[in-house]
Amino acid sequence: MSETINPQAKDLEFRPPDDFVKNANINDSDVYKKANEDFEAFWEEQAEEIEWFEKWNNVLEWEPPHAKWFVGGKLNASYNCLDANVRKNGDKIAIIWEGENGEIRKYTYKELLVETSRFANVLKELGVKKGDIVTIYLPMIPEIVIAMLACARIGAPHSVVFAAFSGESLCTRISDAESDLVITCDGYYRRGKIVEQKKKVDCGLDSCSAVQKVVVVKHLDNDINMRAGRDIWWHDLMEASGPVCEPEAMNSEDMLFLMYTSGTTGKPKGIVHTTGGYMVGTHITAKWIFDLKDDDIYWCTADCGWITGHSYIVYGPLSNGATIVMYEGAPDYPEKDRFWDIVEKHKATILYTAPTAIRSFMKWGDTWPAKHDLSTLRLLGSVGEPINPGAWIWYHENIGKGRCPIVDTWWQTETGMVLISPLPGITTSKPGSATLPFPGIKAAVLDDNGNEMPPGEDGLLAITRPWPSMVRTIHGNEKRFIETYWEKWDKNTYFAGDGAKLDDDGYFHISGRVDDVIQVAGHRIGTAEVESILVSYPSVAEAGVVGKSDEIKGEVIYAYVILKSGISGDDKLKKELIEHVSSNIGPFARPKRIIFSDELPKTRSGKIMRRVLKAIANGKDTGDVTTLQDPEVVDELKKKTLEEE
Ligand code: WT7
Repeated sequence: MSETINPQAKDLEFRPPDDFVKNANINDSDVYKKANEDFEAFWEEQAEEIEWFEKWNNVLEWEPPHAKWFVGGKLNASYNCLDANVRKNGDKIAIIWEGENGEIRKYTYKELLVETSRFANVLKELGVKKGDIVTIYLPMIPEIVIAMLACARIGAPHSVVFAAFSGESLCTRISDAESDLVITCDGYYRRGKIVEQKKKVDCGLDSCSAVQKVVVVKHLDNDINMRAGRDIWWHDLMEASGPVCEPEAMNSEDMLFLMYTSGTTGKPKGIVHTTGGYMVGTHITAKWIFDLKDDDIYWCTADCGWITGHSYIVYGPLSNGATIVMYEGAPDYPEKDRFWDIVEKHKATILYTAPTAIRSFMKWGDTWPAKHDLSTLRLLGSVGEPINPGAWIWYHENIGKGRCPIVDTWWQTETGMVLISPLPGITTSKPGSATLPFPGIKAAVLDDNGNEMPPGEDGLLAITRPWPSMVRTIHGNEKRFIETYWEKWDKNTYFAGDGAKLDDDGYFHISGRVDDVIQVAGHRIGTAEVESILVSYPSVAEAGVVGKSDEIKGEVIYAYVILKSGISGDDKLKKELIEHVSSNIGPFARPKRIIFSDELPKTRSGKIMRRVLKAIANGKDTGDVTTLQDPEVVDELKKKTLEEE
């Protein structure tokens, strides 16, 4: 990405407007100092903001790298999202849902509680017990929220699998979680076309026989196959089920959910989040960073299939009693102003979206947002990858009309909540910087040996103190948990996998992943996952996959492929390979380029050097290649890459 703007320039700083500051949920910068002096006391104070059935005895038990928060406390996440709000105002709208075809459905908090309780009873009826992991494979329809909250209500951790994943990817996750119940739907719309979700489930389940029951939401009424004894309609079950279900009193450290995410090996990691700390962390960050007020209409455009949807569509906003907007479909359907149409129609006041979307809007042109009344907006957010200053400024001017603070929020599946972000009533923001750690959070930029980097110098992002919503372990793989996050420096220091630097004001500028993980349009994809799918194709011998920076998507996938001997690479085979990846992982993982080659850059021990491949794909200097088996392969690959552009 070429960027001519200097984010350090003082004239690009944005100070929150006085009236925003005056009314902000948090506007006294002393909060940072106070939280820093005694972070446990700070989090204890925040924990009082949510409802507990029983109070904790201990705020934090920290045996690095294992943290237990609010030990001894008992609570229920769905109770905090529903019952607690019904008590205040049950007629308040909780969800405004818009289908891609324009259909609108609304749920009050009271209605959402009844639907959730009914489905919680359904789950019990189907034999789901506290501790059983339930897999949810639904698109952005209200039932996904109901299903998540119903699981939380009875203490069954959910594992939501992003609806665009393939049936095979679904199956991998079901098997790892040893889940025997799947909740899905017949189909859903994407750019006017029907995605046959149930068909994907049927294919996926062929290879995981453990699944006993599939609950199917009738969303489109498209033709599907219901297997007798296994598949049951959601609406039939709901009709037969009672509207009251007592929330289970969960221990603070009981698992609330599993969320699979990509790492540096082919196998996705099941990130374990627990109940108390996660609820406290998401509740307070949602309240302070998004400045949620009673009359806000809050729209996070993420999908519930990713952590952003869990923390900032469901648990954070709903525990604050917010009215949330949910949209089923694509931003450019039927026209490129769909988002602005939704903002105008539902009078959204807060919009939280991703840099990749913002860059698409920029490309589509200023006239699309200009056609709509966006004057209800008062705060904007960004998440998923670094936002380049150009996109920040466009967002600020064209959507925020120069008026709305922007919160660039850095966090991860593993962190559960936002860790680095402006507080919109306090922080002077700078385009391209997520600014400062949230109160109570301590972060640093370190070199490989754990020394702090001086301002202006690139290093690695580290979190140097435990926080309530931190990942507790990797499901079934404690060893990987420790190796991945806690062995880079020492067991007190969390390795985020991102590069970062500080500026002279101590603001963090995060540059993106430093490991073999790429963010394609904000979707996290492991290069090893794509490689293993490519080599599963009969004509492929080896594959090396890297991210190439892209103006819209942040990164796109470049796959360097060695074919088996006697097979020649042509355009047809390229298409087949792209399709193979798409159908095995999901369309969001499609390689942008397939480059056939006779060799790949390898160390003498035969390991593919992705660092070198990445430099080649990005047209950058490959650095020292003397340790390669065959240094000549570099020039060959450079030539081939150029030919493909
Ligand atoms: C990775 C985590 C957390 C929600 C969505 C992604 C990148 C995320 C930012 C930001 C720079 C960011 C990082 C991080 N990232 N937000 N504001 N600035 N980079 O969750 O799939 O777990 O991915 O997203 O590289 O490590 P995820």
